[in-house]
Amino acid sequence: MRKTATKRGGMIPTQSGPRDLPSDAAPASAESVIPGAGPAIRPGERPTVRLRDAGPDDQPRYAPEWLELREGPDAAARSGELLDPLRIRLANMPGKAGIVVHDLGCGTGSMGRWLAPRLDGPQHWILHDRDPYLLHFAAVASPRSAADGSRVTVETRRGDVGLLTPDALAGASLVTASALLDVLSREEIETLAAACTGAGCPALLTLSVAGRVELTPSDPLDTEIAEAFNAHQRRSGMLGPDAITVACEAFSDRGATVRLHPSAWRLGPADAALTAQWLRGWVGAAVEQRPDLRERADRYLQDRLAACRAGELQVVVHHSDLLALSRPTGGES
Ligand SMILES: C[S@@+](CC[C@H](N)C(=O)[O-])C[C@H]1O[C@@H](n2cnc3c(N)ncnc32)[C@H](O)[C@@H]1O
Repeated sequence: MRKTATKRGGMIPTQSGPRDLPSDAAPASAESVIPGAGPAIRPGERPTVRLRDAGPDDQPRYAPEWLELREGPDAAARSGELLDPLRIRLANMPGKAGIVVHDLGCGTGSMGRWLAPRLDGPQHWILHDRDPYLLHFAAVASPRSAADGSRVTVETRRGDVGLLTPDALAGASLVTASALLDVLSREEIETLAAACTGAGCPALLTLSVAGRVELTPSDPLDTEIAEAFNAHQRRSGMLGPDAITVACEAFSDRGATVRLHPSAWRLGPADAALTAQWLRGWVGAAVEQRPDLRERADRYLQDRLAACRAGELQVVVHHSDLLALSRPTGGES
């Protein structure tokens, strides 16, 4: 877990999943912490999601509790504006009795629960993740009906989406992903874009971190924490806030038409549990990147969590949604 978290930038609450704080920098009450998703207990242990014992070479794990916590705000943030051009594209695919959707890095399947009921017609969803535990949750809680009541079916595929090939997308009508791009490397995003454009398949890639947050009321330390967090996200080749730009270029360079739309989390008193987890991860990653911030960041986190509990904190975490309409292949319009 430790190594992977470094390689992938670990789990940041915003785009990837929560990171922990080192034990001596984790002042939040234990009962408010999602087991396996929030601050780790042991010094130096990476956060994310230690669901059960894992070796140093294991990939980071995302706690289903964390994914559940963010599902509502994710749904509220997703850009409905990109759906009409997507619907038009899907409707123009000839000779289809239904659509086949590949959801990459599906986690517990929140993208399908949001999107399937917004699209008409029979749908078959192929849910990809490297974590079999999350795939199980995704399959169990998969959507059953399309917007027009048509049947929705699912299957799961375990694997690394950074190695996707056009062959793996043969017959695909749509590729989706949510909160995934920023934990990929440039090479992995290029591979993903090549697979989608090679298969002539549109891609709806949502909730990629934009690297900007706004906290109200503001604090002098906000900017420093944000910059350290962004630097942390870029560690070990992961793109973090640069992912969306790289993805736009990767799809455009391969002839796709790309549209972007903002999809910010707007967190207020009703989202206190998510905000608190996000804060711990955000500040924790910043301290990991800049240990010299620790003392000030500890105080900052305590103050922010207290404001959050009192319903006096508002947070905007900026994200972007991307729709890439690849040139159709194989006779599709
Ligand atoms: C932040 S979670 C998002 C989950 C889900 N899409 C959502 O929006 O709730 C990222 C997911 O991507 C998966 N993931 C990350 N990198 C991956 C890779 N290279 N191959 C397959 N799955 C990956 C993780 O296991 C996790 O389920």
